[in-house]
Amino acid sequence: MTMESLDGRAFVVTGGGSGIGRATALRLMELGASVTVAGRTEERLREVVAAGEGLSGTAMARVTDVRDPEAVEGMVADTVERFGRIDGLVNNAAGNFVCPAEDLSTNGWRAVIDIVLNGSWHCASAVGRALIAADRPGAILSVVASYAWLGHPGTVHSAAAKAGVVTMTRTLAAEWARYGIRANCISPGPTTTEGAGAALWATAAERERVLESVPARRFAEPAEIADIAGFLLSDRAGYITGEVLSADGGQSLGAQVYGTPVAELTRPRTTAPAAGR
Ligand code: HXC
Repeated sequence: MTMESLDGRAFVVTGGGSGIGRATALRLMELGASVTVAGRTEERLREVVAAGEGLSGTAMARVTDVRDPEAVEGMVADTVERFGRIDGLVNNAAGNFVCPAEDLSTNGWRAVIDIVLNGSWHCASAVGRALIAADRPGAILSVVASYAWLGHPGTVHSAAAKAGVVTMTRTLAAEWARYGIRANCISPGPTTTEGAGAALWATAAERERVLESVPARRFAEPAEIADIAGFLLSDRAGYITGEVLSADGGQSLGAQVYGTPVAELTRPRTTAPAAGR
């Protein structure tokens, strides 16, 4: 089977300075793409560009706050100027913290909606319009989470925002198929990144509880999520659009609480299964 190639293509990766965004930027470079690594902290973006030296693609660090539509427009224009083209986008930038809904301030709600939902829209809109104006096909990929459709206590802001990103994606997929633009989501489970770790499993006990919620009993590595992103952006995924691909070790399947606790039902067995019928 041939590997996918992104040779000569150009992509924007938001939140590219760390975690899944960093791994995705590097993966796209590995596949031959030019990448605008966008984020708020220049030092981190430069580190990613340096880490990508020697890979077949190339990269540019570009400080951008996805909440600012004019900054996003400028970042997309700079991408086209630097690389001579644009072929797509990874909406990876996110903000999150666990907070009981009744304690969430208006500003807290706004901050997360603004980064996740408005930011993803600003980027999809700017990249989509650039693709349409250039009469080029392209691909938009957004990173979401299963609580976008399942909900999850403590994440009302993020869950609502990610749900918006999923339906934005499906709607754009239907509207922009006529331009050859695909739009998909990837829904990672818990992944070993600093940002998610600090926001969602800060203590050893919390980390253990998260692990117990994952039937595969491990966290994802950023590189394995990035690998899927590379595939979904490539022509090998050319007929996939409007899809949400879960890569969560079964976490979103294991939330039921009937009967035996889910942690027990998914714990590795120490006894042999009963003989089949
Ligand atoms: C309650 C909080 C809070 C917390 C912030 N706020 N942190 N409220 N608990 N832990 C409130 C603040 O009090 C403030 O409201 C409002 O939110 C805005 O906070 P600021 O710090 O001023 O906002 P800003 O600087 O814009 O930062 C945005 C942020 C921040 C979302 C709060 O955490 C951020 O930028 N995070 C980016 C990185 C990140 O979160 N990565 C994790 C992604 S993990 P008041 O009312 O006081 O003014 C992820 C994975 C999910 O998404 C899937 C897992 C399976």
